[in-house]
Amino acid sequence: MKKPSVSLIFSLKVNGRDVIVEADPKTPLLYILRNDLELNGPKYGCGLGECGACCVLVDGRAVRSCTIPVEAIGGRGVVTLEGLGSEEHLHPVQQAFIEESGAQCGYCLNGMIISSVALLARNPDPQEADIREALRHNLCRCGTHVEILAAVRKAVVLCKTAAIGASPDDVHSAITEVQA
Ligand code: FES
Ligand code: FES
Repeated sequence: MKKPSVSLIFSLKVNGRDVIVEADPKTPLLYILRNDLELNGPKYGCGLGECGACCVLVDGRAVRSCTIPVEAIGGRGVVTLEGLGSEEHLHPVQQAFIEESGAQCGYCLNGMIISSVALLARNPDPQEADIREALRHNLCRCGTHVEILAAVRKAVVLCKTAAIGASPDDVHSAITEVQA
């Protein structure tokens, strides 16, 4: 006989806001984000933890929200694509992906950006091999890998120059150096 599902109340911190949701404890975080909180940045791809389209940051680490149940989040902070920046003030990684056209259909984009943000948080100066390793399990069915790698390389420069408050001219010459 199938066990009846039980709903519990969960208090979560999402994109800096405290939110209350009622759900079966086993409900994947992805469903809570998309269905209850209308945060549609994270995408449903495989639902099996394989593709990375559903990635979000949990305490700064990229996790697959399709496989982590809401009961496992506890007091840890969740950040989705929507929480990284705004239309007026994009996160440098978002800016870099736009400038390098790092997407075709865009379905993988959420996971690529979230994984890149997590990489740069733990390693602000990643080498090519580090970038490839960090994105190795984020799948792109459109074959946009060359542009995505270029976007992450540019994001490294943008994040560094943003951190030191460099002028747009400084940013431009730093990027030109990287691309030379
Ligand atoms: S939808 Fe979560 S890893 Fe594919
Ligand atoms: S741009 Fe289409 S899946 Fe990556």
